[in-house]
Amino acid sequence: MSGLCLGIESSCDETAAAIVGRDRTIHASVIFEQAALHARFGGVVPEIAARAHAERLDLCIARALDEAGVTLDDIELVAVTAGPGLIGGVLSGVMTAQAIAAARGLPLVGVNHLAGHALTPRLTDGLDFPYLMLLVSGGHCQFLAVRGPQDFTRLGGTIDDAPGEAFDKTAKLLGLGYPGGPEVEVAARDGDPARFDFPRPLLDRPGCDMSFSGLKTALRRARDQLVAAQGGLYARDVADLCTGFQAAVAEVLAEKTRRALAAFAGMAPGSAPVLAVAGGVAANAAIRSGLEAVCAEAGARFLAPPLRLCTDNAAMIAWAGIELEHTAGTPIVARPRWPLDEAAAPLLGAGKKGAKA
Ligand code: KG4
Ligand code: ZN
Repeated sequence: MSGLCLGIESSCDETAAAIVGRDRTIHASVIFEQAALHARFGGVVPEIAARAHAERLDLCIARALDEAGVTLDDIELVAVTAGPGLIGGVLSGVMTAQAIAAARGLPLVGVNHLAGHALTPRLTDGLDFPYLMLLVSGGHCQFLAVRGPQDFTRLGGTIDDAPGEAFDKTAKLLGLGYPGGPEVEVAARDGDPARFDFPRPLLDRPGCDMSFSGLKTALRRARDQLVAAQGGLYARDVADLCTGFQAAVAEVLAEKTRRALAAFAGMAPGSAPVLAVAGGVAANAAIRSGLEAVCAEAGARFLAPPLRLCTDNAAMIAWAGIELEHTAGTPIVARPRWPLDEAAAPLLGAGKKGAKA
């Protein structure tokens, strides 16, 4: 085996290490989840996350090397998430990577976590540039025209909460578990879509920007009215609220995707359009089928990498490191915020609470 890159990811609540080859083979991708540590708080607690990363990064890397059947002697390149994310976790990863690179005399690449997500379709499907990327996770929501490993144009994004964050808060408001997305999706299965007509924020405005915090407020109000009237919520209420909420998110994402595809077609005329998705929210069947329908209508290919590579992992960081190898040697600065498209105007409030990417 040659041309191996060790990737390290610790920007939120997954401690991850992976060994990926230049030939796109994933030899190992190990993820130590922290969800159980944060569950009772209903969200990621930065200090707990940072400590867990510091405690387990070495074990995680050792496990990845072991699973790949290699040692550090076989590694040619080290890549690490240098931001955006919870700074304690990012620092743990960066310091670990720097120590390995220095001790072994290996080149080291600092990777933007969002670039890791955005370049994943090239790892999984060998996708050519350019393509349109929709990143929908617990901390981020944006459309990116991806034209090269360092060439991203943001076409729009959330101006407040990310959809995953809205799912998590909805679950918390309704007494469901964490992470909230899958719980809300299950509860929504038996719901009546006609009972609650939640707002579709920013659909009345042109462009691809989105907003999800008003939706959460509308849900809270509907819940409070029910609790005041009946003294609590019945299972039917929870199901109907979840269905209404999910339908609103799905419709907003579908309509904004329609617009993003049109804008992308104008930027890259002649190329066969592809919409690639990443992030945990892309696992949602209702949201996914809405996106698929929009792609079919626009004649675009819909590409969703396998879920374990759509959500946070280190294989995507290793791959981005391979694509960005020419940047090795650039001093690495751990950054809590790091927009991919530095030229785009900052999104109002985006990432305020969203350390997850
Ligand atoms: O990409 P991810 O694993 O982590 C980052 O945010 O980086 O995404 C996690 C988010 C959580 O907010 C979770 O509630 C949401 O994705 N999620 C879902 C579903 N599965 C995970 N949201 C809606 N429906 C789902 N099935
Ligand atoms: Zn992420």
